[in-house]
Amino acid sequence: MNNHHFIQHHNFKALKSTHPGVRKIKRSQQGHSAHGNKVWRSSFALIDYLMTYPIKSNAKVLDIGCGWGLAGLFLAKNYNAQVTGVDIDGSVEPYLELQGQINQCRMNFQQRSFESIRTTELADYHYIIGTDICFWDEMTRPLFNLIKRTRRAGVEKILIADPGRPPFWDLAERCSANLQAEVVTQRLAYPWKTEKYILAI
Ligand SMILES: C[S@@+](CC[C@H](N)C(=O)[O-])C[C@H]1O[C@@H](n2cnc3c(N)ncnc32)[C@H](O)[C@@H]1O
Repeated sequence: MNNHHFIQHHNFKALKSTHPGVRKIKRSQQGHSAHGNKVWRSSFALIDYLMTYPIKSNAKVLDIGCGWGLAGLFLAKNYNAQVTGVDIDGSVEPYLELQGQINQCRMNFQQRSFESIRTTELADYHYIIGTDICFWDEMTRPLFNLIKRTRRAGVEKILIADPGRPPFWDLAERCSANLQAEVVTQRLAYPWKTEKYILAI
C-alpha cells in the first residue's frame, strides 16, 4: 500500500518527502546536502536482492553513504542486524531516526566520510552495504580503496547497489579485475518498473 507519506516495500515504510515529519525536519535545516535528500531507488533494489540472498541473523552491518538509511534499517528490522550508518552529511540523521521510528527499528549513525574508515574498524563488521554512493568520478578511487580495506579486514561480503552510472561501472571493473566480484542485474517490478545493478564482492 502506498500513500502520500510513504512507499510500502515488503514490510517496510520508506519515507516520502511529503511526510509531515520530513517537512518539519526540512524546515529546521538549512544548506544543501550531497544528495542525502530522499530515499534513492537503488536501495529498494538492494532490499529485493537481500530478500533473495538474505544475510545471517544478528550480523553487524555498515551502511556507507547511508542517507536516510532505508537498506540498513530494513536489515535491522528483518534480520536483527546491528547496523551503523555513516554519511558525510550529518543532516541525514533526523530522517534516518524518523524512518526507524516509523518502522520500529533503529541503526546507529556516524557523520564521517568513507575515506576515514580504517581497516581495524572494518574488522568489526560482517557486511558492508551501500546504495547509490558512486555517482561522481572522484568517488571511484576512495570506494575502491575502502573495498580493498574491507577485504584485508576480513569482511564477509560487500554489496553496492547502483542505477548504473559510469563511475559505478569503473568501480565494478576495478573490483572484477582485482578482487572476486560480480555484478548482478536486479529487476524491480514494484514500486517502479526499473533495473538496477548490485556489485557483490
Ligand atoms: C545518492 S545518496 C544515497 C543515500 C542512500 N544510500 C540511499 O540510497 O537512499 C548518496 C549519499 O552518500 C553520501 N556521501 C557522499 N559522499 C560521501 C563520502 N565521501 N563519505 C560518506 N558519505 C558520502 C551523501 O551525503 C548521500 O547521503
